[in-house]
Amino acid sequence: MPLPGIGELKQIMQQARQRFDLPEREYQESPRLLEAALGLSTSEAQLAFARAITEKGRLTEAEIPLIVGEKEQVIRKSGHLEYFHPKARLDDIGGLDRLKAWLQRRNQAFSEEAREFGLEAPRGVLLLGLPGTGKSLAAKAVANAWQLPLLRLDMGRIYGGIVGQSEENMRRALHMAETLSPCILWVDEIEKALSGMKSSGSTDGGTTARVLGSFLTWLQEKQKPVFVVATANHIEHLPPELLRKGRVDEIFFVDLPVEADRVEILKIHLRARGRRDEDFSEEELRKLARQAQCFTGAELEEVVKEALFRAFDDGRQLRQTDLADAIAETTPLSQTMHELIRDTRDWARGVQLQPAAQLLKNCRLTRRVQKLRGCGRKGKTHS
Ligand SMILES: Nc1ncnc2c1ncn2[C@@H]1O[C@H](COP(=O)(O)OP(=O)(O)O)[C@@H](O)[C@H]1O
Ligand SMILES: [Mg+2]
Repeated sequence: MPLPGIGELKQIMQQARQRFDLPEREYQESPRLLEAALGLSTSEAQLAFARAITEKGRLTEAEIPLIVGEKEQVIRKSGHLEYFHPKARLDDIGGLDRLKAWLQRRNQAFSEEAREFGLEAPRGVLLLGLPGTGKSLAAKAVANAWQLPLLRLDMGRIYGGIVGQSEENMRRALHMAETLSPCILWVDEIEKALSGMKSSGSTDGGTTARVLGSFLTWLQEKQKPVFVVATANHIEHLPPELLRKGRVDEIFFVDLPVEADRVEILKIHLRARGRRDEDFSEEELRKLARQAQCFTGAELEEVVKEALFRAFDDGRQLRQTDLADAIAETTPLSQTMHELIRDTRDWARGVQLQPAAQLLKNCRLTRRVQKLRGCGRKGKTHS
């Protein structure tokens, strides 16, 4: 049985009103309230409305959070989807300008006006890149920017015990996402669930391949406005089917942040911790950014946190030198992952995504210079 739609939910709501004899002024058949109940089964909706009436004595728009709360619990119990309330905004992402512009342009894409204008609802994006470059952050920010519910699909949990259960789990999760549409379905680190693909036929009776197949088919055929944001760190595990045209609208390759982006990221994380932009001059920040070559956004955030600890420990305000020291003591992941970076960039070039920057070369050069000068991780800046 399909889950009840708006019309049926309205009936359930009216029944609840009659049963509890709710006075006129405490009852409001708001479309937003009904939308909030989408995704609940008939009995779950009955329970949710009853709870709102017994607890609050009314059933109005003010009860939306309560209904949404009920729904989240139901979704959580189903086990494959997770409801998120992200705080991040697009402005909290440093760099990733093309992605941000692309997303911003589609801000109103799910509205009634957009449909009347003849626009198709965007299908989704695939974000590829090194860990810690802000892909998950972008998924959260887009939900906030578009004011849509964010559902995370946990691919790892889709795989169930009994034969055929994984397919059923996937089907149910996708069905739930469609019921809650318009919404954003976030598939984080999609490659993790698919790494067994190649050997799938021989090791798991083809389950992984079938589950992926059903996901991809859904991705291509879906009619409901579910915007998929899939992220991946390791391209080598990705099946080529996922990258075919028509599955998603765009594939974005997220590279290490360049100097200007690193300045922006440092600013964002200093601001997030109560520091004002005036606390450090542009020149100071640029110097730090130069020193933090090949750092990812996540590493820059760690640098800010670590520097704050130092300053606090010494009982004084944060100084530029705290940040510089923290950078000097960090070995960025990218240094131990040369191959991964190179392969990812080569690969990205191959499928004609954004051309990769020359960062890696510079990075290696700096290391070499540092070695030659014998100042290793001391963290002196080199131009
Ligand atoms: N471009 C960026 N701008 C601002 N913060 C960033 C950026 N990239 C990473 N971060 C910080 O690092 C954290 C982890 O990044 P995340 O989005 O999980 O990386 P990924 O999903 O690409 O591995 C984020 O929550 C954010 O605080
Ligand atoms: Mg991530």
